[in-house]
Amino acid sequence: MASTSLALFSLLLLLLPLLASAKGGFSIELIHRDSPKSPLHDPSKTLFDRVREDARRSIARAERLRHAFSLAASGDTYQSPVIPDAAIYLMEVDVGTPTNKIFAIVDTGSDLIWTDCKPCKDCYPQEAPLFDPKKSSTYRDISCRASTCSYLPEPACSTNGSTCQYTYNYADGSHTSGNLASETFTFRAAGNRSVKIPKVTFGCSHDSQGTFDNSSAGIVGLGTGNLSLVSQLGSVIDKKFSYCFVPHTETSVSSKISFGANAVVSGRNVVSTPLLGQLETLYTVSLQSLTVDNDSIPVNSFAVIIDSGTTLTILDPTLVQSLEQKLTKIIHLPRVQDPEGTFSLCFNVSKNPKEQFPDITFLFDGAALTLSSLNTFVRYDENTVCLAIVAQDDLGVIGNIAQQNFHIGYDLDNQRLSFAPADCTKS
Ligand SMILES: *[C@@H]1O[C@H](CO)[C@@H](O)[C@H](O)[C@H]1NC(C)=O
Ligand SMILES: *[C@@H]1O[C@H](CO)[C@@H](O)[C@H](O)[C@H]1NC(C)=O
Ligand SMILES: *[C@@H]1O[C@H](CO)[C@@H](O)[C@H](O)[C@H]1NC(C)=O
Ligand SMILES: *[C@@H]1O[C@H](CO)[C@@H](O)[C@H](O)[C@H]1NC(C)=O
Ligand SMILES: *[C@@H]1O[C@H](CO)[C@@H](O)[C@H](O)[C@H]1NC(C)=O
Ligand SMILES: *[C@@H]1O[C@H](CO)[C@@H](O)[C@H](O)[C@H]1NC(C)=O
Repeated sequence: MASTSLALFSLLLLLLPLLASAKGGFSIELIHRDSPKSPLHDPSKTLFDRVREDARRSIARAERLRHAFSLAASGDTYQSPVIPDAAIYLMEVDVGTPTNKIFAIVDTGSDLIWTDCKPCKDCYPQEAPLFDPKKSSTYRDISCRASTCSYLPEPACSTNGSTCQYTYNYADGSHTSGNLASETFTFRAAGNRSVKIPKVTFGCSHDSQGTFDNSSAGIVGLGTGNLSLVSQLGSVIDKKFSYCFVPHTETSVSSKISFGANAVVSGRNVVSTPLLGQLETLYTVSLQSLTVDNDSIPVNSFAVIIDSGTTLTILDPTLVQSLEQKLTKIIHLPRVQDPEGTFSLCFNVSKNPKEQFPDITFLFDGAALTLSSLNTFVRYDENTVCLAIVAQDDLGVIGNIAQQNFHIGYDLDNQRLSFAPADCTKS
């Protein structure tokens, strides 16, 4: 008895400083897939190649988001809507004791945290060494009777009846499955401070296959569900996180994600809007109008997903059409076609390289967000600039280009999303 309480007491002493260090708030570098720090970086690609590829990935991800959105809206359970190929932002995480460094995809569009584990049958070829649970002193399988097991969309028991098993099938046939487990995760925070989080529930994948990138080894889900990192950290971070995405043309400075006290978005220019919160996993807000040059296009209260992993902004076709009509009246440049068909409004800027494109104001419930051309147009090639807002039926997504240079705070306790204009290369 005495030894049990002593053990508990020592455990508490051990945990306190760790939790305290997270409680003060912490910030982690977000590595863009195209940054030289990223394992996915390909130096042979130009900025234009990368923009076009990220745009194509947006369209593929949009298909899956739409599927997830319609299932969730009809009350059906669905699995992770996102395939890891849609990786845009990565985070370095140390898993286990001793630590095993992995690059994980940071994703506001999914919940489960997972990484590939040894042994991995049928795993996609991977460059980073796999995490070996047998070599970690802090690894524990989770029982299939544990409540955390019931949070999975399709919980299952191992054949020996003891271990919680997870399986995620992605719409394109990719899948990951393995043990639901708990482990210590260590984040390298700003100032090279280690923030150790004990007992993080994660999927230790022993079988994953499909269209995954071979140099990223897992996902950190930041969605609204119980298994996401945000929900797991809960009161330790006051259920708050924020990020600031540097413009995608900037490759020498990283973006940042913050948790807890560091995630409070404040100042004179902050605007905020309710998170609609009726869907599991996805963050949605209500879009009410778009304004170009004082001329408004009303929107019939449209729920849009705010997403880290989609690059372009995606809106209803009639809305995009009205927007394009207004823009073509204001922008007096020759139009050109995107040969790939991803973008629908492109201009030839070869004779007007310094052309100013108009601001577009997105009015969310209670929050007017004025987006400059940095957030709404991309350079397709040397002489072509395209609108980074494209049409898809039955879907609205505010993509990461639209979010650049805003400090964006998610407050899950108060169900609010806040925006403040920022220079993300400095803050
Ligand atoms: C990872 O993918 C890249 C590009 O597809 C390929 O060149 C490389 O050989 C792959 N690595 C492994 C270990 O399969
Ligand atoms: C999330 O957790 C709460 C308890 O903490 C539980 O009531 C709820 O059912 C869980 N949600 C899901 C989808 O499992
Ligand atoms: C039960 O099966 C799981 C999954 O195959 C395995 O990871 C675990 O070690 C097994 N547990 C026991 C006690 O054999
Ligand atoms: C950060 O800390 C780690 C471990 O404490 C150390 O190995 C690494 O060199 C440090 N990096 C910098 C940039 O100080
Ligand atoms: C928009 O409206 C404001 C105030 O009504 C006015 O000052 C401004 O000139 C208008 N801008 C344009 C481009 O019409
Ligand atoms: C853009 O305009 C320049 C100059 O008028 C012209 O030479 C070029 O062919 C145009 N590019 C496209 C893709 O139409």
